[in-house]
Amino acid sequence: MKRKLLITGGAGFIGSHVVRLFVNKYPDYQIVNLDALTYAGNLENLTDINEKANYTFEKGDITDETFIDELFQKYHFDGVIHLAAESHVDRSILDPLAFIRTNVMGTAVLLNSARKHWKGNENGKLFYHVSTDEVYGSLGEEGFFTEETSYDPRSPYSASKASSDHFVMAYYHTYHLPAIISNCSNNYGSHHFPEKLIPLAIHNIKNNKPVPVYGKGENVRDWLFVEDHARAIDVIFHNGRLGETYNIGGFNEWKNIDLIQLLCRIMDKKLGRPEGTSAQLITFVKDRAGHDLRYAIDATKLNKELGWEPSLQFEEGLEKTVDWYLSNEEWLQHVTSGAYQQYYQEQYQKR
Ligand code: NAD
Ligand code: DAU
Repeated sequence: MKRKLLITGGAGFIGSHVVRLFVNKYPDYQIVNLDALTYAGNLENLTDINEKANYTFEKGDITDETFIDELFQKYHFDGVIHLAAESHVDRSILDPLAFIRTNVMGTAVLLNSARKHWKGNENGKLFYHVSTDEVYGSLGEEGFFTEETSYDPRSPYSASKASSDHFVMAYYHTYHLPAIISNCSNNYGSHHFPEKLIPLAIHNIKNNKPVPVYGKGENVRDWLFVEDHARAIDVIFHNGRLGETYNIGGFNEWKNIDLIQLLCRIMDKKLGRPEGTSAQLITFVKDRAGHDLRYAIDATKLNKELGWEPSLQFEEGLEKTVDWYLSNEEWLQHVTSGAYQQYYQEQYQKR
């Protein structure tokens, strides 16, 4: 095998797209997917590549130091793409310590094992850390996040991701661990867990349930099709410069309420409902605590240096996403049974 890569969090939303891309595109790479299979991890996301010769799944927790050390011993990885994380802002408000454990401690454990294993032989190795634009805080009406924007995290989730980014750079500077970070905007697409806005709204509209919009729906997010994020990770992993960070974004800002209105129109069309039916489900609810107003990424560096750009227009990507959810009823049923119902009650009943 030409390369031996550890991908963490590969059973999650973005991770499964990254694993699929790498397994299919690089048959001469050995890809090991390490995932704890939390509520957000689902091996059903990877049934199409599960049997491929260059793919292996390992169940385990990134905070388990002994286990991670043993994994490095077993496979002699020369690259890590680290996506495993607690990823939902609302859950971080309910249970911040879980985020500190996985996102901060888990990242530090991985960094430390990589350092120990690669020490004195760093050539050709890479620790690629997948992070978020939320580390930069919140924008007003104007401006963009660039790679030079100061960190200003405001939620327990973004604070834990910011902290993990700092540890990555600390290992780069202190131990010369070869490392790169990318900070991406909001992703959407298939296999997205229905706790996040777009899949939650699709699920609720389909079932004629209220679509909860926080506050007045004025908050702005910059949406990127998940497969474009996976392509960006591929490009940066292979051609990015060590010690650098790269912002990834869709140049695609939407106010939440406008996005939900568009989604309602698409759902009416796909479900054969009269126009305006789904929009009646929109329900304004109590705002998220500390709700960041606006995110917008300037991805010029990635475009100029490595030639990456988004491939899809938003409306096209959203239609593809809706089509996927409507034709993967079983997937949606499995992930919304049991613990999901309990979370939904806790999160939305008092709003
Ligand atoms: P996700 O919640 O869908 O998946 C996370 C995966 O990590 C799951 O498979 C889960 O089982 C696994 N995991 C969680 N804790 C673990 C642990 N302790 N040990 C091993 N595995 C564990 O998340 P996602 O939306 O796919 O995000 C992936 C990464 O990308 C995260 O680091 C997130 O911060 C970052 N990111 C996400 C977005 C987005 O819009 N979703 C945007 C930018 C960056
Ligand atoms: O910007 C990148 C980040 O995008 C990632 O780092 C996170 O992992 C990912 O979860 C996402 O965070 P957001 O908080 O922006 O995504 P979410 O889908 O939770 O919310 C999108 C917007 O919609 C946000 O302004 C809150 C709002 N919202 C969300 C939910 C779940 C609602 O109005 N109603 C809802 O029910």
